[in-house]
Amino acid sequence: MRNPSEEESILRQLDGAIRQSRAAKLPAAPLLPIIIAVFTVALAVFQEPADVPPWAFPGSPKDSGVVDSTRLNRVPNSRARFTLRQAIDRFAPPEWHPSGHPPMPDVVAHGRKQDLFACAYCHLPNGAGRPENVALAGLPEGYIIAQLADFRSSARRNPLPGWIPGNSMHTVAMSATEADVASAARYFSGLRFTPQVRVIEAARIPRMREAAFVYARIPGKGTEPIGNRIVEGPPDFERHELRDDAMIYVAYVPPGSIKRGRSIATKGTDGLATACITCHGKNLLGIGLVPPLAGRYPTYLFRQLLAFKTGARSTASSQPMWPVVARMSVEDMIAVSAYAATLVPACRSR
Ligand code: HEC
Ligand code: HEC
Repeated sequence: MRNPSEEESILRQLDGAIRQSRAAKLPAAPLLPIIIAVFTVALAVFQEPADVPPWAFPGSPKDSGVVDSTRLNRVPNSRARFTLRQAIDRFAPPEWHPSGHPPMPDVVAHGRKQDLFACAYCHLPNGAGRPENVALAGLPEGYIIAQLADFRSSARRNPLPGWIPGNSMHTVAMSATEADVASAARYFSGLRFTPQVRVIEAARIPRMREAAFVYARIPGKGTEPIGNRIVEGPPDFERHELRDDAMIYVAYVPPGSIKRGRSIATKGTDGLATACITCHGKNLLGIGLVPPLAGRYPTYLFRQLLAFKTGARSTASSQPMWPVVARMSVEDMIAVSAYAATLVPACRSR
């Protein structure tokens, strides 16, 4: 039995496939195999293990808008002013700190109507990304190009089908040309990456609600136990909604996570075959096309570990990860994601 959100996901993917085939001016007949393929992929994923913890995929309830959409807003250290409506323009997202990054190529700054949203709309002009997506700054150019191809072929999917951020990236990859991908990859890989997340271990955390695919504090409502989760979000929700690319996010993790994560990353304890640093390098700064993990949003890292484990990311190049995650528990994944997020990429040698 599929639940309504799964139905919605199938419909959305179908919609994407149909629009894609129209864009490619395919005759009607080849649509059928696409539809069957989409259903098969969707159904296969729905039968995946039930151990995809829902907390890692916060939703976006309708009531999440907190700012008046016509007011001109400011963020710290910027002279720019944008309304919320401008800040959520998928084809011209705000540039709050233009001196903080080189000029953006058109695909990054604007994308192309209707389906190719500007990369900066989600990954931000400085490539810092946000916890519901991922920082792209400083990733190897070849790795970015390869991932776009993997999204396009659906060999790389989100571990929770129907989660809107993951679906949107898929639609973008289906709509981007080779030239778009090449210029975006060159731009993002050339950016210097400065982590924008602070990891805090705590048994109790401020009471939170799900909003805009992250966690937002509910002021004056006390605390709640963290349990077995990473709870990541903006300290200032308005700046998140305004897409301030200078914001430092906060990720709460269970006490003891960082120490345990360091041990998993450097020694491969608890029966893990290989320590993460063997392939991802010292301080998890990446080696060649094996991507850096240091300082990246921990919920993103966690979702990727889940994706390898559930088969949602079953790309040829990710095969080395499969035995790594096979014996990892949710606790292990939380711990190693938390540890990686605390590392600072000071001196990556290329
Ligand atoms: C609507 C939001 C959105 C837009 C626009 C968007 N992305 Fe993404 N992107 C995401 C999300 C969400 C993920 C994480 C997907 C996942 O979990 O598998 C992602 C993941 C990626 C990754 C994988 C990074 C890694 O470490 O493996 C790359 C590369 C990427 N995006 C490139 C781009 C490029 C290039 C563009 C513009 C052409 C773009 N994205 C536009 C949301 C977006
Ligand atoms: C045998 C080599 C190897 C080992 C050991 C290894 N990895 Fe990886 N990992 C890779 C490769 C290769 C990729 C890139 C996959 C791709 O190209 O899609 C990757 C990708 C990842 C990603 C996705 C990053 C992104 O930007 O999307 C995460 C997260 C990750 N590894 C975490 C870990 C952790 C945590 C450990 C230790 C518990 C670990 N890896 C151990 C080879 C390895």
